[in-house]
Amino acid sequence: PRSGGFAFILFGGTGDLAMRKVLPALYAAHRDNLLAPEGRIVAIAQQALDRDAYLRWVDEQVKPHAAGKGSVDEAAWSGFLERLSYLQLDGSRPEAFATLRDARDLLHGTRIFYLATGPSLFVPVCEGIAAAGLAEGARVVLEKPLGYDLDSSNAINDAVGRIFAEDQIYRIDHYLGKEAVQNLFALRFGNSLFEPLWRREWVESIQITVAEELGVEGRGNFYDQTGALRDMVQNHLLQLLSIVAMEPPQSMDADAVRGEKLRVLRALKPLAGDEIRQNVVRGRYHAGAIRGASVPAYLDETGVRPDSVTETFVALKAEVENWRWAGVPFFLRTGKRLAGRVAEIVVNFRAVPHSALGPLPLRSGSNRLTIRLQPNESIRLNALAKQPGMGMNLRGVYLDLAFDQFFQQDRMEAYQRLLLDVIAGRLALFVRRDEQEAAWRWVAPILEAWARPDAALKPYAAGTWGPAAASALLARHDTCWVEEEN
Ligand code: BG6
Repeated sequence: PRSGGFAFILFGGTGDLAMRKVLPALYAAHRDNLLAPEGRIVAIAQQALDRDAYLRWVDEQVKPHAAGKGSVDEAAWSGFLERLSYLQLDGSRPEAFATLRDARDLLHGTRIFYLATGPSLFVPVCEGIAAAGLAEGARVVLEKPLGYDLDSSNAINDAVGRIFAEDQIYRIDHYLGKEAVQNLFALRFGNSLFEPLWRREWVESIQITVAEELGVEGRGNFYDQTGALRDMVQNHLLQLLSIVAMEPPQSMDADAVRGEKLRVLRALKPLAGDEIRQNVVRGRYHAGAIRGASVPAYLDETGVRPDSVTETFVALKAEVENWRWAGVPFFLRTGKRLAGRVAEIVVNFRAVPHSALGPLPLRSGSNRLTIRLQPNESIRLNALAKQPGMGMNLRGVYLDLAFDQFFQQDRMEAYQRLLLDVIAGRLALFVRRDEQEAAWRWVAPILEAWARPDAALKPYAAGTWGPAAASALLARHDTCWVEEEN
């Protein structure tokens, strides 16, 4: 179904995020005929550009991203450009917003303010919107990182919350827009097969990995102030964990889903002192090779401070303290410049209580469900089977289900889905304030511990699976990361 009339007001209209993600996603929605014809996009930035100059910039910079691996549909592209206009405005000065108020002819329909800017502009921009009398009935979209820690994110949420009600605020975590993450809901709550086993009685441990081959990709400056814990764990990985561990929601209503996720985040066992030293691994890559090509050390990336102690890798053990999950370790891991690009969730089931067949071949994970989110969405179920022949020799085998065998159509990009949700007013895939706060609260002691001068930063070579300490962490729990399984 098509969206209704809207004015999509994009702050940071000439920035990296607008160029790579937001505008290409809007183009794709336009091309697929999912936007109401009267919907308009107003890009805002500080540069003195007129509309023609802005459209030239979009043509040069955005089009290659909109094309993806193919090419853009020229007719759709020119139709998309017709929706665009440009306003020069300094978002840090609330009085500048009179320009926006005076542009009323561009603002018909639901007003959506998309803040593709750094978090330091979130509050001034919202205040400017309010001062111009444009906040009522509008929606505001906030990008991550929403703050730097619990206090700064609270400060932003308080200030934004004085202007917009919670149901007007859309906090983006693009992982929630991924088809494969959506599919986790389908897998868990659309099938009766897994749910009875989805608990401490049957599950020994769970692994969640989001590994990247990429480095900091020209974002050294931003990344060096952020690090893997804030960039990936506080949001994407804890969101995945909350979906894996949540109770079945009563419905897919936004607050039903978010309420269940919140309960998981609040049930995370707080980490302190020795537990952080033992169960949280913080790593940083030095020079190495990715797919045979040498890549520089993190410290040699542009924008990284020479005395930086920012981590590019985190592995940790989390626990969810409730009846379903007590005692089951959740091992989370993410890093840049690892040996492969993969995001997956691995559920290791417990070993049989007694083996009538003699010693079983695998140390752990003989029965294992692997849900691969990317690349190539798939589900794999590992089991043991008898090797043909005399005697009872068991071997690991698996059932493999690759989703593209069943569904040929292209996957919708996460941003496209999320932007269409904002335009339609659907909040389920956006992070509610209390969820975000619970996630910051949980990572806070880790950030504090790492701020001490003696906090360890473990090296790993680019192109490997991270520091040895990450393997040791699992070995202590008598298990291993799945790619180390033999
Ligand atoms: C972003 C992080 O939120 O997610 C990036 O800021 C990271 O550092 C990216 O590369 C990973 O997303 P995806 O969709 O490529 O897995």
